[in-house]
Amino acid sequence: MDDVLYVNGGNPLNGQITVRGAKNFVSKAMVAALLGEGPSVLRNVPQIRDVAVVTGLLELHGVTVHHDAEGGVLTLDPSNVESAHVADIDAHAGSSRIPILFCGPLLHRLGEAFIPDLGGCRIGDRPINYHLDILRQFGAEVDKRAQGIHIRAPQGLHGTKVTLPYPSVGATEQLLLTAVRAEGLTELRNAAIEPEIMDLINVLQKMGAIISVDTDRVIRIEGVARLGGYRHTALADRIEAASWASAALATRGDVYVRGASQPEMTAFLNTFRKVGGEFDVDDDGIRFWHPGGDLSSIVLETDVHPGFMTDWQQPLVVALTQATGLSIVHETVYENRFGFTDALRGMGSTIQVYRECLGGHPCRFGQRNFYHSAVISGPTPLAAADIEVPDLRGGFSHLIAALTAKGTSSVRGIQLIDRGYEHFQEKLTALGAEFSHG
Ligand code: EPU
Repeated sequence: MDDVLYVNGGNPLNGQITVRGAKNFVSKAMVAALLGEGPSVLRNVPQIRDVAVVTGLLELHGVTVHHDAEGGVLTLDPSNVESAHVADIDAHAGSSRIPILFCGPLLHRLGEAFIPDLGGCRIGDRPINYHLDILRQFGAEVDKRAQGIHIRAPQGLHGTKVTLPYPSVGATEQLLLTAVRAEGLTELRNAAIEPEIMDLINVLQKMGAIISVDTDRVIRIEGVARLGGYRHTALADRIEAASWASAALATRGDVYVRGASQPEMTAFLNTFRKVGGEFDVDDDGIRFWHPGGDLSSIVLETDVHPGFMTDWQQPLVVALTQATGLSIVHETVYENRFGFTDALRGMGSTIQVYRECLGGHPCRFGQRNFYHSAVISGPTPLAAADIEVPDLRGGFSHLIAALTAKGTSSVRGIQLIDRGYEHFQEKLTALGAEFSHG
């Protein structure tokens, strides 16, 4: 029963842990290596399942990947890229949405791509319409089939002007990975500008791309005929850092997150302070702690960067169950990211979800049938329970709830957490958490 963790909660998490490169950057930088004619070297790579999945997909396309897991160094050599077998791609892609980003690079390298049904977390519909529209605008022909999507570009890919209906992270990456080697100029309006995207632009520039980012969410790319490899150190995982910070707050603990970086976490740090948590930034990381006394309720809205990230929301909501008063959280990035609160209610928290846009601006999910606002009334002691992990961030939040609740909780489906949290069980041990496998 390796997939179940029995957590004996109710004790503060105290100690030090290290976060390495951001999952949501590393996987994209790995795909970017496909565009180069020479080998690339990526440092600060965490040992998580998403990296293994993308490694498998790259190897199927003839990329030689060497991963020094301990040192966190990936070497990717795309000299022999070749067409992969459809069934094999299917077998490898089950748990990831990254395959859709292979389109541009594969079209440039091979003239065609086959993308299977996509996985990823169950946090809403997660459509790929923006991605397909972008590829069509570059001149690709998209053919949807039962097993997936076949894409060809018999006339090559040509620069274009795109305005995104919403600043989607994945669609912005799709455009970047396609435009850098497309013929001519590309302009993207309403682009996502998350730090992970800026670091992808750093990588592409190192490879030889010409990309400029304007202040008003406009990105311009001048296509080039060839790209080389890159050497790069991945930016830190700000979602993982904030997850451990929320765990420290919920359990009334004190956690030093080595590797955490302030500039990418401004919105989180402001909120953490408003709730009553304390932090101290130094050159190597950030210490997060609960100073004692009561936590304060807040009104919070998730948003695209530079706003409060949707991925920070779920861990923080667990800490908000321990704050005094009514907190309001309006989720504006995904229509269905409060499913994880069912388990928290089962543990004794008072959380109600609403279809209305509460506490802030109307968002695109208002007047529709989506429970995308939550009101959390606290403080409520949490009771131990049997929990099933729903998705990556929701799963980590359940783990925090189990660590906060007195008594022994069972958390099932913990393999999902390995997708994005490196060595989380070793880190829990380092922080003094009590848990076993049965
Ligand atoms: N959307 C569309 N059509 C599309 C693409 C997106 O309607 O073609 C919508 C989505 O349904 C969603 C919104 O646009 O409502 C934003 O989605 P976005 O494309 O920005 O998300 P993503 O690229 O699929 C990445 C991260 C997510 C993170 C979001 C937002 C990766 C692999 N995933 O997803 O991370 O929540 O950006 O920052 O980079 C996670 O790490 O657990 C995770 C879910």
